[in-house]
Amino acid sequence: MKKTVLAVLGVFVAGGAMAAPDWEKVPARKMTLFFPGQSSLEWVMNKADHSAVPDIVDKKRPCAKCHEGDANEIGDKIVKGQPVGSSKSVLEPKPPKGKVGSIPVMFQAAHDGSKIYFRFEWVPPQNTDNKMDKKNEVKLTMMFDGGGTVDGANLNGCWGTCHSDLRSMKDAKDDKKTKYIKDADLAAGKFMDLIQYRSGKGEKPVDGWVDKERHMEGGKGLVKVEGKKEGNKWVVTFERNLAGGGKGDHAIVADKVYNFGFAIHEDYSEARYHYVSLGYQFGLDKAVPDVKNYINVTKQ
Ligand code: HEC
Repeated sequence: MKKTVLAVLGVFVAGGAMAAPDWEKVPARKMTLFFPGQSSLEWVMNKADHSAVPDIVDKKRPCAKCHEGDANEIGDKIVKGQPVGSSKSVLEPKPPKGKVGSIPVMFQAAHDGSKIYFRFEWVPPQNTDNKMDKKNEVKLTMMFDGGGTVDGANLNGCWGTCHSDLRSMKDAKDDKKTKYIKDADLAAGKFMDLIQYRSGKGEKPVDGWVDKERHMEGGKGLVKVEGKKEGNKWVVTFERNLAGGGKGDHAIVADKVYNFGFAIHEDYSEARYHYVSLGYQFGLDKAVPDVKNYINVTKQ
């Protein structure tokens, strides 16, 4: 009996599923992704390096509040190996030749009551000839928490997963070590859900998560990922069940505000050689006008 009901429901859901949203009608938000070099959580949260720490900690100012306007300048300085921060740190010891400091990306999101859709559009900078990841010209990775479940994610975005001891970072000891969250707890929701588009032929999208380490499979929420070069720009779309349902999937529900960030590995790059967004927030059909880095994802 139960089986039949589920089967019928399944057909109903599939039959009634909406097509992708009409993106023309969805507001787009420009986000400047910048080259972060070795700006780890430890660096951005150390007052001697970054004078803003008391504002972040005591006044709860998110990165985007101060840097939405100057993220391109930050990227320019870091990518050229210029000293930054109050400590005049060189956050890129090996400035990659020919790399730009930032990429403006148009971000859109919508939902239909059962799925959420994300769309990213940007004009790629010129490729250099340094192919670190030979398979994938582009990887786009998004991470989000479970609605305030990861301490500091509302302020730091993805920086909570980025540490100075990761591979290719300043204090790296293990060239396999990837993202993690201190005091992560999968059962308690203290983890970042992770979804990734990979452009390589035959490469599969990733539906994973980051807790005490990075997991590149186990999620069941991702329905479809598409990426294509349209003329001179890239367009990547994700379609994900709101409910999630797999290991390391956060359920996306109406009454919560989710913290997210995303990164683009351009130009066949790998590890930290990506462009990253500041931390943003989204919620479903909920206006939060006084929070600048919040995006209201409305039903289409
Ligand atoms: C209250 C405003 C404010 C907030 C919030 C803030 N910053 Fe900064 N940030 C600054 C200022 C001012 C500088 C210039 C150097 C300094 O004073 O330390 C800076 C410098 C930087 C730099 C070095 C680039 C440069 O031009 O010196 C990076 C990277 C950076 N911030 C990243 C972040 C990240 C990531 C966050 C969120 C965790 C963040 N900032 C939050 C104000 C802020």
